[in-house]
Amino acid sequence: MANGSILYPLLVACLLVSSSFQSLYRHDGDSAMTSLRLDMDQSFHGCDQNLEQKKASCSNKGLGLVPTGLSGDTEVLDLSHNNITKLLNSSFELYPLINSLDISHNDVRAIESAAFYPLKGLLYLSLSFNWGLVLPATGVFMMSTQLSILDLSASNLKSLPNDILKWSLHLDTARLFYNQLSFINVSSCGKADTVNMTGNRLQHLTAENFTFECHTDTLNIRENPIQSVDPDVIASLRVRYLVLGGYPLSDEVLANIILGISKSDIERLTIVEGSVGIFGQLSVLQELNLDYCKIGYLHPLVFSGLESLQKLSLKGNNIQHIHDDVLSGLGQIKSIDFKGNDIAYLEELMFSSNWNLTNLSLANNRITRVYQSTFKPIFSSISSLDLSMNPIECNCELKWLIDWLNGPIRLKNEDKTICSLASLEPLRKKSLMDFDPNELCKINNSLYSLIPLISIGLVVISVLLYHYRWQLRYKLFLLKLVAFAYKEMRDARDHNDYEFDVNIIFYDDDEEWIREQLRPALEERLPQLQRNVVGDEDLVLGMHYLDSVDYVVSHSYKTIVVLSRAAVLDHWFILKFRTAMDHVSDTLTEFVVVVFLEDIPDDEMPFLARLYLSDGRPYIHWTENVRGQEYFWEELTKNLTINIRTNDLIPNE
Ligand SMILES: *[C@@H]1O[C@H](CO)[C@@H](O)[C@H](O)[C@H]1NC(C)=O
Ligand SMILES: *[C@@H]1O[C@H](CO)[C@@H](O)[C@H](O)[C@H]1NC(C)=O
Ligand SMILES: *[C@@H]1O[C@H](CO)[C@@H](O)[C@H](O)[C@H]1NC(C)=O
Ligand SMILES: *[C@@H]1O[C@H](CO)[C@@H](O)[C@H](O)[C@H]1NC(C)=O
Ligand SMILES: *[C@@H]1O[C@H](CO)[C@@H](O)[C@H](O)[C@H]1NC(C)=O
Ligand SMILES: *[C@@H]1O[C@H](CO)[C@@H](O)[C@H](O)[C@H]1NC(C)=O
Ligand SMILES: *[C@@H]1O[C@H](CO)[C@@H](O)[C@H](O)[C@H]1NC(C)=O
Repeated sequence: MANGSILYPLLVACLLVSSSFQSLYRHDGDSAMTSLRLDMDQSFHGCDQNLEQKKASCSNKGLGLVPTGLSGDTEVLDLSHNNITKLLNSSFELYPLINSLDISHNDVRAIESAAFYPLKGLLYLSLSFNWGLVLPATGVFMMSTQLSILDLSASNLKSLPNDILKWSLHLDTARLFYNQLSFINVSSCGKADTVNMTGNRLQHLTAENFTFECHTDTLNIRENPIQSVDPDVIASLRVRYLVLGGYPLSDEVLANIILGISKSDIERLTIVEGSVGIFGQLSVLQELNLDYCKIGYLHPLVFSGLESLQKLSLKGNNIQHIHDDVLSGLGQIKSIDFKGNDIAYLEELMFSSNWNLTNLSLANNRITRVYQSTFKPIFSSISSLDLSMNPIECNCELKWLIDWLNGPIRLKNEDKTICSLASLEPLRKKSLMDFDPNELCKINNSLYSLIPLISIGLVVISVLLYHYRWQLRYKLFLLKLVAFAYKEMRDARDHNDYEFDVNIIFYDDDEEWIREQLRPALEERLPQLQRNVVGDEDLVLGMHYLDSVDYVVSHSYKTIVVLSRAAVLDHWFILKFRTAMDHVSDTLTEFVVVVFLEDIPDDEMPFLARLYLSDGRPYIHWTENVRGQEYFWEELTKNLTINIRTNDLIPNE
């Protein structure tokens, strides 16, 4: 045993001739003998074997056939980058224990139908990059019921056997991308998690040319030159998530896709933008209706090119967030309907180019607060606004809204536009239009603002003085909104001018997210930021805890504050958050960015966080959605590379 481990990893190459002779005797029948003798020559090219790990690597050995000289208990076999042209019924008989087999980058042109039958435990098979690949018409993976990853990409496949996905009990991924598939008939099929047909030649998603009956989580058919679509074909898909686009789709195709989706069980649809935008050919389109399409994410460029669009309806989808750029190409838009989505907040610049917008519905979303800056560009154009069925928080910050709504604008569904329970006490469950800020916000403002303060103050009595400071600022903030225009100025210092690059404040329970998401993303995207302080563990030793927090905050280029429902209930966390915000005011530098890991219900949102938001300070929402996460990292990266001077014109105490 000891000797064995000293020799390991063992390079075997041709030394194992004896074992190949042994395996010879296991065979009977003349044809097998001849083909094996042929194979034996090839085995002398020498593969690298690791007997302990049961791996054999024969990559780049100029092999023309599957070698025979390998250990009979090989489990992982790499035959990539060779000249193998044929896989015979006998090719793998010597290695029945293979579970991972890589035959990519060869020239396999013929596969005998029983070639893979000995491989009953096969989990992974790659035949990608075999430019002339042709598969047997039926039953090729009949015995490989454990197959989990099947890679047939980039092999010029023109058709697929009808039963190719039938035999595996639970296929994880079928990689079929970048082939020449123009016709699909996979009617006999088990369950597959991801089937990826990106970059093929599918032109007609019609009953004649596209049959796909697998129960699939994700079906990706982007980058296919789709010319015609039968809505019934889409409707009959047993797919949860469909990915399309990456190629200009005509409005008829799009309409049929949407029609099909609306009748299907598809839960999520992504239409990725193509080289000219998915609606690129639709520059004359005036009306676009994507109601009830299960759209969860809008790519920032999804509507680019729709220069003439006047009416956009996205009712009843699952949209949570609208990126600043989504509506920015719609200069002629008159009517936008976002009724019945999951929108929780509105970006400041989202309407910045929609000067002609007259009708806007945001009814039945999850909007709690609206800011004047968001609506500024459309102040004078809007004639009809619907904010009904949103949990709007009515407080003195909304004075501008009330004033606006009292102008020449029609608030639709006024009777259903109700102040939420998080509103000032006399307004709860009352109609928004009953709110008279002139009456309520004059004297009582300070009193009502104090209510959340008191609840915090009871818990952290020792910092009551601070609270009072914030409350002062809060009133000044309202004044500021009226009195000063917003102006952005960059801070000239960069991260090298600070002792620390990024300081991350988070609650212990959120450590997993920091470890698994944030840290790897920072390492990948901002490798120049090295001197980071991650949580309490990295705080400066030998200092009192709060002094140390204070020291790190004031000596860091950037501070990320990670908010979650649990975090905001923790007094120490709030204290740290407050420390960071104090320094924002003291330094007049916007160096803090808040990350919301989850939605925090209004009644749990601490006053400090509300103040932060109402001050228009930078914050980003984490999401489970993959494209949303991409957006998140982009926003965060952007934010971590500059510091803007704050617009606080509040004197320092
Ligand atoms: C495969 O064969 C061709 C000629 O038949 C030869 O030029 C090429 O080098 C071979 N490739 C490998 C990896 O041995
Ligand atoms: C390979 O096996 C299949 C199925 O057992 C059989 O039909 C076929 O004739 C075999 N091919 C050769 C060349 O022996
Ligand atoms: C499908 O394949 C393409 C091309 O390799 C890749 O970019 C994409 O991420 C894959 N999609 C899925 C869902 O696996
Ligand atoms: C099926 O595909 C062929 C070849 O691309 C095409 O000629 C034919 O019109 C298609 N049939 C339907 C019904 O789309
Ligand atoms: C698909 O294949 C099945 C099984 O071979 C066959 O019965 C069916 O007619 C085919 N469908 C089309 C549209 O070719
Ligand atoms: C849209 O607004 C611009 C600028 O206000 C104006 O010149 C243009 O005529 C408007 N277009 C329509 C269709 O109303
Ligand atoms: C805009 O709203 C007004 C008033 O509700 C209505 O009469 C008009 O038809 C709407 N216009 C559009 C384009 O929806």
